[in-house]
Amino acid sequence: MMAVLPISDESIRQAAQLLFRGGIVAFPTETVYGLGADAFNPAALARVFAVKNRPRFDPLIVHIAALEMLETIADLSLLDTAAQKNLAALAAHFWPGPLTLIVPKRDRVPDLATSGLPTVAVRFPAHDAARRLIAAATGAVAAPSANPFGYLSPTRAEHVAEMLGAQVDLILDGGPSSVGLESTVLDLCHGNPRILRPGGTPKEAIEALIGPVLPDTAADTAAADTNAGLVSPGLLQSHYAPHACLVAHNTESLYREPGETGAAFLFFDGASRDAWLSAHANPAGITLAVLSETGTLLEAAAQLFELLHALDRPDITRIHAQLAPEEGLGAAINDRLRKAEGK
Ligand code: TXA
Ligand code: MG
Repeated sequence: MMAVLPISDESIRQAAQLLFRGGIVAFPTETVYGLGADAFNPAALARVFAVKNRPRFDPLIVHIAALEMLETIADLSLLDTAAQKNLAALAAHFWPGPLTLIVPKRDRVPDLATSGLPTVAVRFPAHDAARRLIAAATGAVAAPSANPFGYLSPTRAEHVAEMLGAQVDLILDGGPSSVGLESTVLDLCHGNPRILRPGGTPKEAIEALIGPVLPDTAADTAAADTNAGLVSPGLLQSHYAPHACLVAHNTESLYREPGETGAAFLFFDGASRDAWLSAHANPAGITLAVLSETGTLLEAAAQLFELLHALDRPDITRIHAQLAPEEGLGAAINDRLRKAEGK
């Protein structure tokens, strides 16, 4: 039985009770909605993989609501001095917030949570209801995004209800996610810090604090090997995809694209839509959407999954999406568009 409840002391208490009993609960975070289970309960973790249809080789993020929890799930003594310094600086500056750190795991974290890796992904979300829920439960909630594996991430409770519905014990409805893109995943365990997934914390902001970080070049290797030994399986090339075929365009190729009946255009800004419209007048049967009328990266990021869900209608067969400027949150927007491509 599935219930959707607004955030209140009572619904959070109920959700925490479900987690203690091995249930799975969808809850809002500032990035996207998560599908939570008690991080220390292997049976509950197994249910998360089953409900998402997620391969067991793709590890989960463990969410905490207090810095002290980090030491109970991670053995930081296994990090070298430079990594320890980086971790302290990053946690102090970006937590709570949309940054996930890969650190050495302690034995008490079940192998199922980490897909057998000796490392664990840890995130301290900024969302108030998420933190209240985690604190009211065991203090460690494993949660992937609350979508079927490979599909668009949810930024609203309604998205979760549509995609996973009755398979979830409870959905906490906290309204639309403010960031709208998953957290940035940063590996601190293998020499120089490396971004495994661009996300809600821009690379530039991380580098301003700890110096140069390695780019997510592992993506190509990961795509070539979908079964074993992945650095971060979430780097799989096809991901975050709607049912319609999505084509990612740079601005020039988008302007040349006339579209066809059943096509939708997702523009980065209002100026690009206007320029396209002046070249392709009277687009009957074509749907137009804009990520941010004023071309603001923050707003565009928050609207990305929102609009892709809205455009994922049976009558729309192809989505022509304009890439964002490749800076700040634009890198994460473009990462999601490229991974949604060609499905
Ligand atoms: O914003 C977010 O991070 C959201 C919300 C719910 O917090 N969660 C999320 O989880 O996006 P998920 O499972 O969809 O993505 C987790 C990513 C995957 O790419 C996974 O491969 C990577 O983190 N990951 C998890 N544990 C890892 C580890 N030990 N080493 C490397 N990558 C890891
Ligand atoms: Mg996901």
